[in-house]
Amino acid sequence: MSKPQIYVERTLAVIKPDAVHHADEIEDVITRYGFSVLQKRKVQLTPEQASEFYAEHFGKMFFPSLITYMSSGPVVALVLAKDQAISSWRELIGPTNSLIAKQTHPDCLRAKYGTDDQQNALHGSDSFTTAEKEIRFFFPDSIVEPIPIGEAAKS
Ligand code: PPS
Repeated sequence: MSKPQIYVERTLAVIKPDAVHHADEIEDVITRYGFSVLQKRKVQLTPEQASEFYAEHFGKMFFPSLITYMSSGPVVALVLAKDQAISSWRELIGPTNSLIAKQTHPDCLRAKYGTDDQQNALHGSDSFTTAEKEIRFFFPDSIVEPIPIGEAAKS
């Protein structure tokens, strides 16, 4: 009889150019909150790659400056695993606009490390489908099927 398996959810976190110099500190918080870091990669995106990653926002007023910003320096992409990783990570980073975050959620990571709605320090996938797609974007060789909790803890 095969062993019963409990699966753990994964999400993609990105430390954006304005916060990369705080990457070690942010990673400490990530592990303190019970996430396992399954994969990590520091990468300089080209404008074309940044446009692909943010394709859903193409046509919005802020799109050109978002792309310039996201390709202005290296970013750190991390695959995080935890029970309800997607919503947990979104809760930990806080509201998109760091200016608002500082007023409404002063303890969140975007309040601490970000500046405004563009330089907001961190990205988090917003759904299971997006997480799969975004993990594959930064880690094309990744096996995106859910992994057993025991395997996540070993990484
Ligand atoms: S939207 O229009 O509500 O879907 O946008 P939002 O979810 O608020 O933000 C999506 C990403 O766009 C970035 N953003 C901006 N960049 C530059 N300038 C302005 N004004 C701006 N507004 C939003 C924002 O940082 C979000 O990036 P992620 O990586 O998802 O945090």
